[in-house]
Formats: sequence, structure tokens, C-alpha cells
Amino acid sequence: MTEPAPHMTPEQFRQHGHEVVDWIADYWTRIGSLPVRSTVAPGDVRAALPTAPPEQGEPFADVLGDLDRVVVPGLTHWQHPGFFGYFPANTSGPSVLGDLVSAGLGVQGMSWVTSPAATELEQHVLDWFADLLGLPASFRSTSTGGGVVQDSSSGGNLVALLAALHRSSGGGTVRRGVEPDRATVYVSAETHSSMEKAVRIAGLGSDAVRIVEVDGDLAMNPGALAARMERDVARGYTPVLVCATVGTTSTTAVDPLAAIGPICQKHGAWLHVDAAYAGVSAVVPELRGLQDGVEWADSYTTDAHKWLLTGFDATLFWVADRAALTGALAILPEYLRNAATDAGAVVDYRDWQVPLGRRFRALKLWFVLRWYGAEGLRAHIRGSVALAQELAGWAEADDRFDVLTPHPLSLVCLTPRWPAGVDADVATMTLLERLNDGGEVFLTHSTVRGSVVLRVAVGAPTTTRAHVERLWALLRENHDWLAADFAEQAAERAREAAARAEEQSRIAAERAAAEAAAAQQPASDAEPAAEAPATVSAEIGVPVEAPATQDETAAQAAAQEQLPPA
Ligand SMILES: Cc1ncc(COP(=O)(O)O)c(C=O)c1O
Repeated sequence: MTEPAPHMTPEQFRQHGHEVVDWIADYWTRIGSLPVRSTVAPGDVRAALPTAPPEQGEPFADVLGDLDRVVVPGLTHWQHPGFFGYFPANTSGPSVLGDLVSAGLGVQGMSWVTSPAATELEQHVLDWFADLLGLPASFRSTSTGGGVVQDSSSGGNLVALLAALHRSSGGGTVRRGVEPDRATVYVSAETHSSMEKAVRIAGLGSDAVRIVEVDGDLAMNPGALAARMERDVARGYTPVLVCATVGTTSTTAVDPLAAIGPICQKHGAWLHVDAAYAGVSAVVPELRGLQDGVEWADSYTTDAHKWLLTGFDATLFWVADRAALTGALAILPEYLRNAATDAGAVVDYRDWQVPLGRRFRALKLWFVLRWYGAEGLRAHIRGSVALAQELAGWAEADDRFDVLTPHPLSLVCLTPRWPAGVDADVATMTLLERLNDGGEVFLTHSTVRGSVVLRVAVGAPTTTRAHVERLWALLRENHDWLAADFAEQAAERAREAAARAEEQSRIAAERAAAEAAAAQQPASDAEPAAEAPATVSAEIGVPVEAPATQDETAAQAAAQEQLPPA
């Protein structure tokens, strides 16, 4: 007879669940004392794990113990107050608890009928967020469009493209696939790489991508976009989609939606707005102006899992015409048929995304919204922006750093200044490594117009003014240390060059003297003396040392004379 599986009973779950919550709370309490960036070497984590999986179940305490022993040392702590890298990846108590409930319910919300609450709560929360972010009325579920939680903005960019291809082909892609030789997609050099990845996944291939020029602020130039589209149309191409970014990954540049929208409309191209990081800032009315023209958008993506206190994955994605999206993705095998779907009375979110299955992610968004309220979310965004602006102000007033402008949100890009003769990119990367090795802070870099810049992304929930002040102190201290080191290296190089120059002039003088002496001798004496102590090599023009053995032998003989008798 087979033994029953040793399931965790509800009582055991209660006990260990409390232990896990305690463990997370303790982790959050001590996180500021840990080095932000993991210090393990490749393979260290695996080396700490047994080669074979456990044959028998193990005590839960051992698992928790291994979190501290194996996992924590191998973590870069994204919730650390000194984390200023990439973009933030916020989580929060209510988000974790919402995820816990979702995991505990374990429902699969692929269709409305599989758990109506999963679908309807998601629709409702997305409508709330559309209001909070000031998005167009067409994005509401009560209009032609609607919102959905996607796994990532990369996924959002992909489904936007699939919907655009569906619309542009009049539905033809469903049966005939894409026309890679005709379709064109417009991005700028600053657009996130996931858009080009989407183009490849969709089967168009990178040749379909048109990289539109940016202006001085690194935002897409609408005139250049219009010119490229005109040219493509004249050559028989079909502009399918323009991806405009609100808050580019490198520098948070903002493509001008209000100017781009009418150009898209003229050519029938789908306007997708990728606002992965910056979109959520629109909860703050005074920041909403960055997205002026968003009413032109056919689709829009922003990540609550970056800067809006909700753990990964929680991408908020909207579309103005849901029929284009579901037209591209809907497929109804017999085993998924049900009366509600057949009646067309419900939304089945499996038709809005690539996978079939989906978690109940709206729960954590709902928990977050209800814990913080809109005002709490605004306070978080405003707080990060204010700290970033303060840092930018300090750096602008300091002659060791240049600040890349504009910096409207919570990312500040700094270009350290270095003395002439120093390779600035190498120096900046060295500064970055010194800062990150120190363990108190963590930053990342990018390149802007071919030069390395340091990116400081403020936004971890625990970051306070004191942490930003500390970062600023570390930036200055390490810059000073490196600048002094570079100056010392430059002085050393100058000393070596001077010594070399002196040696060369001494050699030249000796050679001139030797040539003068040779010129004064009669022709028969001109043969070089075999025992001459030094001679001039014909090939390289420098004196060749006399054989050392003569001197050594003499020195050894002299030394032996000094030895005591054997
Ligand atoms: C502008 C932009 N788009 C897309 C992405 C990808 O986001 P995700 O990790 O949600 O796929 C990022 C990530 O930083 C981004 O900055």
C-alpha cells in the first residue's frame, strides 16, 4: 500500500507560516546592515547545496536555517535603503500579504468561470488605476478597452505588437501569419530592448525595426519619425506600431506623445506607450504633464512592481480597443467552453496574454491600494522624486560631477569629471566598482552618447534623506580618492617620461662622442676593439653592455678572498 503524502496540516501551516512571517519581518529589520550587493562568487550558492534532493521530508526549521546560510549571502538586497541600481523593484507588507493570500487560494484565473472574483477584481482594480493615473476613458473596462495585469512590461510590449499586427492586417495574421517584408516598427535608440525582442518573437525579425533619431534630451524626434514613416510608406512598407517611451531606461527621457500621436494616426500605426518605470508617477497630478498626449495611445504599460510598492510581477497594461488584442490572442478549445464565455457576457483574461494560466495578482494590488490609499502612493512617489531632485541639486553645485538633464523623476544620471589625460569611462567604472564593493550602496551605469554615466535611481521604500546624503558623501569621497590616485599615477608617468628623456640624451651624447673619436683615428685603426667595454649596436643604436661575467668573476674572486679559512 502507498503511504499517504505528508501534507502540512492547517495547524502546522499556521505555526510555520508565523515563523516565515517572522523571518521576513526580521530580514526587513536588519536589511540595512547587510552589504547591498551579494559578495558570493559564481557557483558558491550551488556549492552550499546538497547534490541530491532529499529522499525524506526535512524539518521546516532546517529550511529556514538554510535561508540564512545559503540564500541570504547570495542576495543583492533590492529593498535595502542603499539600493539605487537599475530601477527600484518595490515590495511592501500589504503586497506580500496579498501574494500570500493569492498563493493560499491557489486559484487559476484563466477564464472568468474558473474564479469570477479573480477576473472581476482585476477589472475593477485596473479601472481604479486608470482613474488614478489619468488615463484615457477608452482604457476603462466600461468602454471599448480595458486593463489587465501582465507578467512584465516586456510581455506588455509583445502583446501590444501582436494586437497591432492583427489590426494592421485586418485580422490576417491569425491565419496567414505576419508579413515580415512589409511590416515596420518604430522605436528610438533609447527604447527598451524588450521591444526589439517582441519584434523577433512576433516573427518580423530585427530588419523590421526603424530606429528614429532622438533630440538633445534623448527623446524621440517627431519630425524624424514622420520622415521615416513617409519614406517607408512610399517604398511600400506598412508602419504597424510606434513604441513611444515615457521614462526611458537609461535616463528617463520622455518621448512627446502629443506630437507622435497624430503622426501614428495619419499612417494607421498603433501607438504603444511603454511607461514601465515612469507611468505610475502619474498618480501624482503635478507629474502627469509628462504624459500629455496619452489619449492618442492604443495601448499602455506601466509596472506597479517597479516603483509602486507592489512586488513582482504586477504590470498594469491597458488597451483602447480590446477587440484587437483578443482578436490576436483568443483561442477557444472545447475543454474551455462554458456558458458565460459562449454568451459573451464576461472577460476571459487568458485571451489578453500569452500564457493560458494566470495567478490572482490583482489581490496584491488591491491590498496595496487599500493599505496606502491613493494619498499613500502619491507620498511614496513624491518622496522619491524630492530626494532625487535634492541629489541632483547637490551634484549640479559641485565641480566634480555633471548632471545629465532633464531628470524629471527619481532617476539622476551623473557624469563624474576627471582630470585631463584620464580615461573617463574607465575612471567612472572604477568609481562605480569602489562604491558597490563598499557594501553601503549599490548603483548601476549606462552609456549616454557613447560615454559612461552613473545612474542613481531613488525609490526603495526604506530610503530616507540620510541614505541619499550618505550616498552623496560616498560619491564625493571616492571621487576625491580616485582623482588623487589618478594624479599620483600621472605624476609617476611624468617622472618616468622625464627619466627616459634624460637617458636618451645621455645615450645620444655618448654616441656623438664615440663617433667624433672614431673620426679622428687613422683608417687602419678603425676596426672596433674586441675588448671594448661597451659598443654601439648598429641595429638599435644603444650601447651594448660588456659581458657581465668579467665583472662577476672579479667580484666573486674578491668575495672569496674575504671568506674565513675552510
Ligand atoms: C522602459 C522599459 N520598458 C520595459 C522594461 C522591462 O520591464 P519588465 O521587467 O517589466 O519586463 C523596462 C525595465 O526596466 C523599462 O525600463
